[in-house]
Amino acid sequence: MKATADVAASYPQDMVSAMARLAAGVSVVTVKHRGAVWGVTISSLISLSLHPPMVLFSLHDHSSMLERIDATRHFGISMLTAEQKDIATELARGDRGPLPDHWVQCSNGEVPWITGALAQLQVRKTGAMTLGDHVAITAQVVSSRWTDAAPLVYQLRGYRTLKEISPIR
Ligand SMILES: Cc1cc2nc3c(=O)[nH]c(=O)nc-3n(C[C@H](O)[C@H](O)[C@H](O)COP(=O)(O)O)c2cc1C
Repeated sequence: MKATADVAASYPQDMVSAMARLAAGVSVVTVKHRGAVWGVTISSLISLSLHPPMVLFSLHDHSSMLERIDATRHFGISMLTAEQKDIATELARGDRGPLPDHWVQCSNGEVPWITGALAQLQVRKTGAMTLGDHVAITAQVVSSRWTDAAPLVYQLRGYRTLKEISPIR
């Protein structure tokens, strides 16, 4: 049997290994701040409520995106296609700069999205709660658009896609 200290030390890593099995869609949060568009790759996006329509995602508590989101409260969330792995990789880098123009399209209200994404949400931040070392952000969905392209999926520390979208019989 493991001593208490060993259990405590190994627990977070065990949890990381367990959660790595969970396949998750890959999205990008985009926000316009001081004339430039900034983005970050996330896999924590979930649909939270239908009435009103709300989503939830989490960012680590020292994320550069928290201040940018707070400055405008209106931002975009783009679910990526399997063709957009390079965008996901770039926007997960800690030293990334603003997004290049050809990756971005903007709504009339200046909310940016990733061009050609699987689905795009225009949202308004409604709340934030620090939970552990992350901040859970809730946002109301103002508008939604989508395509039927193949999704980009992250599982077992690698990018994947679904070969075909078909029900299991
Ligand atoms: C597939 C994938 C999913 C990720 N999901 C999240 C997430 O949900 N929340 C988060 O804070 N970081 C997530 N990350 C890590 C961030 O993208 C990465 O740490 C980024 O550099 C954070 O930038 P920031 O410090 O400006 O927020 C994810 C990375 C990858 C590759």
